[in-house]
Formats: sequence, structure tokens, C-alpha cells
Amino acid sequence: MTDLRLTLYLSRLLPDPVMAIVRDRFQLVHDPHDVSPAPSALREGLCQADAAIVTLGDPIEAETIRVATRLKVLANYAAGYNNIDLAAARQRGLIVTNTPDVLTDATADLTWALLLSTARRVVEGDTLVRSGRWTGWSPTQLLGADVSGKTLGIIGMGRIGQAVGHRAVGFRMPVRYHTRLFMATSSLPREWEYRSLQALLGEADVITIHVPLTTSTHHLIGARELAWMRPTAFLINTARGPIVDEGALADALKTGIIAGAGLDVYEQEPALHPTLAQLNQVVLLPHLGSATAHARVQMGLVCLENIHAVLNGRPAPNQVH
Ligand code: DGY
Repeated sequence: MTDLRLTLYLSRLLPDPVMAIVRDRFQLVHDPHDVSPAPSALREGLCQADAAIVTLGDPIEAETIRVATRLKVLANYAAGYNNIDLAAARQRGLIVTNTPDVLTDATADLTWALLLSTARRVVEGDTLVRSGRWTGWSPTQLLGADVSGKTLGIIGMGRIGQAVGHRAVGFRMPVRYHTRLFMATSSLPREWEYRSLQALLGEADVITIHVPLTTSTHHLIGARELAWMRPTAFLINTARGPIVDEGALADALKTGIIAGAGLDVYEQEPALHPTLAQLNQVVLLPHLGSATAHARVQMGLVCLENIHAVLNGRPAPNQVH
């Protein structure tokens, strides 16, 4: 649909191919920038728009939803949508959509990048070489942990959890998983085995988190759960920061309760728990899960497809409920 009377609010600048389509089809409420809008600018922008694309860093609160009466569809540029007050959206009839599927591979790949970097001390190695202090090969230098043949524990068996599990085959890693939602076990490989959360944490050499952030997964991993893990185990989180109690994680790493962690997400992004920055056994990434050029363009296209459907009176393919 090309209807320049329809206004679109973009909270952030999106990749070029997406911006070209947006500029062609809509009147933009304002020219977006590559920084998060202030809460007042976000609300003002949403109030002027028929449709909007927002990101995971934009809190969309009940009051904003209430006053943005013109807005018909809010497309979240992410698979997760914990930044949006869904109950308020439902109450006011605002359609909210997300971008599943198109970022599954990118996020699963990054999970493995973190897993391997953490276990094999890749970042410490890179830092040593760049520092000019590397004195050459040594039998005892930067010894890491084996990954191949170890047990992979996956918390959350949605699209990304499953994609991470399928990648374990080449590493001959048995997969154990925990999920709260009922899953038709026939949809999973027969050799993957279900465990209670406590059993999974006690058994796996690597735990990787792939649940959405909700009130019931907030601090799902805290001091008690970390204590259930093996002292040689690693924790990987590419889902959402507040699923892990960061303070408890910092303590567990400092005191050797677990061996290391690979984090792509944080409790108060972009702020970092001060202790984590000081620990070599942690690999820290700036929320790069879906950050491939391909995935980020596809995410934009999915947002536009959903907006197009709603503005033309059709159901949104990715409406979240
Ligand atoms: C998501 O889609 O939820 C990701 O975190 C975005 O990178």
C-alpha cells in the first residue's frame, strides 16, 4: 500500500533497505536517529502515528497506549515484547506484533559464539595478543574447558532454544532441556531429554537460557539456582537480562560457584553490574543476538508486513497475545 497520508513513527533508524521502503510508503512523524528517544519524545511520536515500529529499549507503558489514540498497530522490532504493556494494549484494542522466526538462526549462532568464547577463553586470548605481552605458545597458557561431548542444558524450548539444540550435534553434546510450556515431545528429537529445572542445572556442563522475560521468569536464575549448578559449568544468556539475578551471578562467579558466563543481555541495559566487568571468566556482548545484516533487514520487513496487514483491515501475521 502506498498511502502517504498514513503516518509512521519509528523510534530508531533501521537498516537502509528498510528505511527506503518506509520513506516510499509512509509519512514519517519525524526523521529517526540511531539513539533511543526520550520518554516524552517517544510518547509524542506515538500520539501522531497511525502505525509505529519500536524497539526492545522503548518502554511502552499503559499511559502512553491510552493517550496514543490514533495508533492502530505497534510493531515491535524484536521477538521478545516484554517492553510493552500488553494488557493495556489489549484493553484499548491496539494490535501489537513481533518478529519471530527471522532472527532464530542469528540468535542461535550467537549463542554458540558466546558458549565457545566463554569455555575456550577466546576474548582473553585476543586481549593478550593485542597487548603485545604474548611471549609465544605455552603448554599451560589460557587453558579452557572442553565443549565437545559435554552436556548441553537448554532452558526454554521455543524456536531459538530448539535451534541451539540442533547445533549441538556437531559437538556430540547430549541435549537436556527444561520448559514450562507443554511441548509435544514428538516435535523434538527423541534423544533430547526433559529435566526439572533443578535436575537440569545439576547435570549440564553448559546452561543456556531461551525463555521470554515475564513475571514468572524474572530472576528465574538466582543464588539458589546458581548453587544447583556444577562448579565447572558455564551459564549463557542471550534471552533477556532480568531472567538472571545479576548480583547473584556476580557473586557466584567471584566465589567459584560456577566456572564462567557468557552474557549478551543485562538487567539494566546498557548499564553493567560493576563486578562483572572485572571478571575474566565472563564474556560480555552488547545485545548482539539478532545483529546480522540479513536478520535486521528481515525484522524490518516483518514489521512492515504486519503494519500493512492491519492498516488494510487484515489480521496481523505476527500479532502477540
Ligand atoms: C529479540 O528479538 O528479542 C532480540 O533480543 C533482539 O535482538
